[in-house]
Amino acid sequence: MTTAPEAPDILSAEFNADPYSAYQVMRNEAPLIWHEATQAYIISRYEDVEKAFKQETFTTANYDWQLEPVHGRTILQMGGREHAVRRALVAPAFRGSELQQRFLPVIERNARELVDGFRTAGEADLVSQFATRFPINVIVDMLGLQRSDHDRFHRWYTSIIAFLGNLTQDQDVIADGLRTRDEFAEYMLPIIRERRENPGDDLLSRLCLAEIDGTHMSDEDIKAFCSLLLTAGGETTDKAIASLFANLLQHPEQLADVRADRSLIPRAFAETLRYSPPVHMIMRQPAEDVELGGGVVPAGSTVTCLIGAANRDSDRYSDPDSFNIHRPELDTSTAFTAAADHLAFALGRHFCVGALLSVTEVEVATNQLLDAMADLRLAEGHTPVEQGVFTRGPAELQVRFTPTTQ
Ligand code: HEM
Repeated sequence: MTTAPEAPDILSAEFNADPYSAYQVMRNEAPLIWHEATQAYIISRYEDVEKAFKQETFTTANYDWQLEPVHGRTILQMGGREHAVRRALVAPAFRGSELQQRFLPVIERNARELVDGFRTAGEADLVSQFATRFPINVIVDMLGLQRSDHDRFHRWYTSIIAFLGNLTQDQDVIADGLRTRDEFAEYMLPIIRERRENPGDDLLSRLCLAEIDGTHMSDEDIKAFCSLLLTAGGETTDKAIASLFANLLQHPEQLADVRADRSLIPRAFAETLRYSPPVHMIMRQPAEDVELGGGVVPAGSTVTCLIGAANRDSDRYSDPDSFNIHRPELDTSTAFTAAADHLAFALGRHFCVGALLSVTEVEVATNQLLDAMADLRLAEGHTPVEQGVFTRGPAELQVRFTPTTQ
């Protein structure tokens, strides 16, 4: 084990500017690092991160302090039967006919409304005008909440993500997260009670009525799950769409391929998830001492799993630092399932429940954006700059295009 003086510290500005070079040093020279400032072990190799996601020894007790103070208790923290029952209650809304028949029109409408905001302008920032707004609008609409409250939802999920990724335990971030918890509860609990009385056709009413083996969700459970949905489904898909376009715009020949053959969109999305995943780190806490990265991690300690590093491990992928939607090992039949090759949705018990929803959102968004923006290119002199070490994506994406009127 090492303290890795060769690699920039994960809290440094240098790391934020370019984590990928640091990841390479970590994988090659320091696969298990003790990081004093965050009191956590850091792992970066594919086989180690995969093991931490798949083996039940690695619990998600870290969310007791990383998320529960703001969300309340959610499925992310649960294990065993409790997790299985809770997941069965919520999963149907995010796959199959429920997704395709009920929520596809919601997704299409929300994409169209945002694209209408700039389709005749010839220029846009795809981050602030589309990516940060679209997934959150979709979830708010699916839950049957007020889209006019968008700014509030956006502020809340930004505050929760900051709390989750608060590696330095900044007191202002903690205080803001706790304020968000109170504001969100005050907003949601009366709506949940009202929906129980008068259920509608929306996801929130479904959650109120859902039952598996005699188990229902309490008002607190539903409030906590909605808070998780806004965060897990908002921030991640926001970064995914922005990164997909940043990657394609910086590889114009691949953008041209996708424009000409839209069946390549899932390949572009799968390669984006590998090359520039929205979530770069996830924690775990082993229940017993475990061998990892050539050392032993003691029971109860925190392990920081670097998804962004594992996804570029040369032991797993050829030419890992190249973005290539045509790479032969890409398999879109598994890329959005728990059998995925990349680690962007995690693997094992907590594999992302919203993976298929995110695919649908990305397909709809990409098709509509390409249809609306002929001759799409980066604005002259603009180079997308990624930011964030916990979640990561381009800060802005200034584009130019020939406007259409449809
Ligand atoms: C590209 C988009 C997305 C990415 C990269 C992503 C990533 C992840 C990751 C890494 C996890 C595992 C967390 C862990 O094991 O500690 C996860 C779990 C989860 N995600 Fe996503 N997510 C995305 C989209 C969504 C969407 C759209 C939703 C729903 C609206 C969603 C809801 C959830 C939920 C509820 C869990 C917890 C599942 C469980 O504990 O069983 N995600 N996601």
